[in-house]
Amino acid sequence: MLLEVRDLHVEFRTRDGVAKAVNGVDYGVAAGETLAVLGESGSGKSVTAQAVMGILDQPPGRITGGEILFQGRDLLRLKEEERRRVRGAEMAMIFQDALSSLNPVLSVGEQLGEMFVVHRGMSRKDARAKAVELMDRVRIPAAEERVRQYPHQFSGGMRQRIMIAMALALEPALVIADEPTTALDVTVQAQVMDLLAELQREYRMGLVLITHDLGVVADVADRIAVMYAGRIVESAPVHDIYKAPAHPYTRGLLDSIPRLDQKGQELYAIEGLPPNLMDIPPGCAFHPRCPLAQDLCRTDEPPLYEVTGTDTNRRSACHFWRECLHG
Ligand SMILES: Nc1ncnc2c1ncn2[C@@H]1O[C@H](COP(=O)(O)OP(=O)(O)OP(=O)(O)O)[C@@H](O)[C@H]1O
Ligand SMILES: [Mg+2]
Repeated sequence: MLLEVRDLHVEFRTRDGVAKAVNGVDYGVAAGETLAVLGESGSGKSVTAQAVMGILDQPPGRITGGEILFQGRDLLRLKEEERRRVRGAEMAMIFQDALSSLNPVLSVGEQLGEMFVVHRGMSRKDARAKAVELMDRVRIPAAEERVRQYPHQFSGGMRQRIMIAMALALEPALVIADEPTTALDVTVQAQVMDLLAELQREYRMGLVLITHDLGVVADVADRIAVMYAGRIVESAPVHDIYKAPAHPYTRGLLDSIPRLDQKGQELYAIEGLPPNLMDIPPGCAFHPRCPLAQDLCRTDEPPLYEVTGTDTNRRSACHFWRECLHG
């Protein structure tokens, strides 16, 4: 495994109390693999990613347990300087909003080139040539001229391409993309997603793709990890999940994807709201919303069971995963 997050716990101490944002997350991604991380707003997708990248706001955030193994080393035990080196060169992150992540007063050429000057000791001139090359790679037309322009002079889709170029500049082993296309309109979304998927294959990087759009992951992801209230509730190869989910929450997410063949039908939405992270229900956190819930679910927190009887590596945190799978 390139990246393995084990039993990660993150809390936020606020004036109102302690929000338990991440409550024992386990996930992994291999080199050359794409893991899609899915879940409703507030389920802890970004906080987990920030912990992996080492960019969590601390305080108010605090990592209270777990391990983050990257290429076999626990990132949580590295010295800050070593950590910074890993973050700069071996892993990179793509955010939803390029405009606030790029520096408005530097041309995109300067920003892309900076990576090579700082991390590879290149001359300004060579770095600029590299910047143009990267802009070509992410298919920005007229790169030779546009390299002098500033972020605000690019469209949203083009800016997102620049962010992808920044992330890939040093050919990191791992890229985390946090809702990379959410801010774009639908046609541009698909183009940017295709580009990201293509580059991921070409560079053979591990990609963690955070999204709440189950629709986009089918084509690009190898595995899916579904999060709920700061835990992974199901993890499986994409095709298995689409065929038959092994967790009622995943089933709910799947049922709420709009389908072209059912136009006009009312869209299903999972009933109720995600829990208050300062007061997570006992037992299974999903039980108040779950159509399959029984007494056991209200008292006993389900472990991440191995889903047996399939030849793939699947896990579900549901006491009744068998019923869900076959129901
Ligand atoms: N800086 C912060 N201060 C306090 N609480 C925070 C902070 N950042 C995150 N949280 C808490 O952590 C929870 C999980 O946040 P996170 O950003 O990981 O959600 P998410 O799954 O990425 O949601 P979304 O789909 O909306 O991006 C939030 O509901 C919030 O309560
Ligand atoms: Mg988020």
